[in-house]
Amino acid sequence: MKKVLIATVKPFAPEAISQMKQLLKQAGYEMTLLEKYQNTDDFKQAVKEADALIVRSDKVTPEILEVANKLKIVVRAGAGYDNIDLKAATKNNVVVMNTPGQNANAVAELVLGMMVYMARNRFNGQPGTELKGKTIGIHAYGNVGKNVARIAKGFDMNVVAHDPYVSSEIVERDGIKDYEEVKDMYQNSQYISLHIPATPQTLKSINYDLLKLMPENAVLINTARKEIIDEDGLLKLMAERPDFKYISDIAPDKQSEFEERFAEQVFFTPKKMGAQTAEANINAGVAAVNQIIEYFEKGDTTYKLN
Ligand code: 3PG
Repeated sequence: MKKVLIATVKPFAPEAISQMKQLLKQAGYEMTLLEKYQNTDDFKQAVKEADALIVRSDKVTPEILEVANKLKIVVRAGAGYDNIDLKAATKNNVVVMNTPGQNANAVAELVLGMMVYMARNRFNGQPGTELKGKTIGIHAYGNVGKNVARIAKGFDMNVVAHDPYVSSEIVERDGIKDYEEVKDMYQNSQYISLHIPATPQTLKSINYDLLKLMPENAVLINTARKEIIDEDGLLKLMAERPDFKYISDIAPDKQSEFEERFAEQVFFTPKKMGAQTAEANINAGVAAVNQIIEYFEKGDTTYKLN
């Protein structure tokens, strides 16, 4: 009987786990659950017996892959796969997949939720501002970006986008202005929502020179990755621009400096919350299980990343 290990420091919702367990049982697979593990030794121990592995943001390093002698497939239940060493996986003959789109609505709802929260002064009773009529620039028009655009339109926002990998035709078909030049989008957007992955190319790419172009009362929202932000550049800009706000679902490395110096201008969730809904956990978890079963039973490699 094949063993599927679910190893998550941040556990899936219980409803997701019970659906995943049910599906695996029906298919004749055994499920092992390792939640909230404190150190990699526990992960290493558990992965030794696994034929398949499901993770969230958990780091799948060469060290983990080295001891996973039976492992054939890892599915990252989510979109971003910067936590998985693809080269080491390939070297160890392990297929890596993600489940794109499955948690996108949850992340997008959080974007708009945090925007309202900050526009209304953290619900402190003081007059705030409305989102209606303001421009939001979507930086990368993928699954999450599209959902942010859809919801922002419901707020009567003016939605624009920039994505070098998506054609203008696709963006404009959704009634959204497409900016070919990233700088032009930043110059014309009071709100910017980031949806780019963390790669060597995007590392610290959201920098002082780009952010300083944003108009008065600018708000930068990050539900993507902390690595894409040039934190020193952002700190410099916030010192110059008391009107500039930074909202992030991923606490920056310099969190205490941001909070001490710019308490009024920043908001960070205590823990990455974007995909933390029962629905997103069920969607991504069930998709991960189905992809593993389809891979073993039919050799289906849709969503293979390596
Ligand atoms: C993703 O890449 O899918 C999101 O960042 C969610 O990550 P999480 O599963 O660790 O919450």
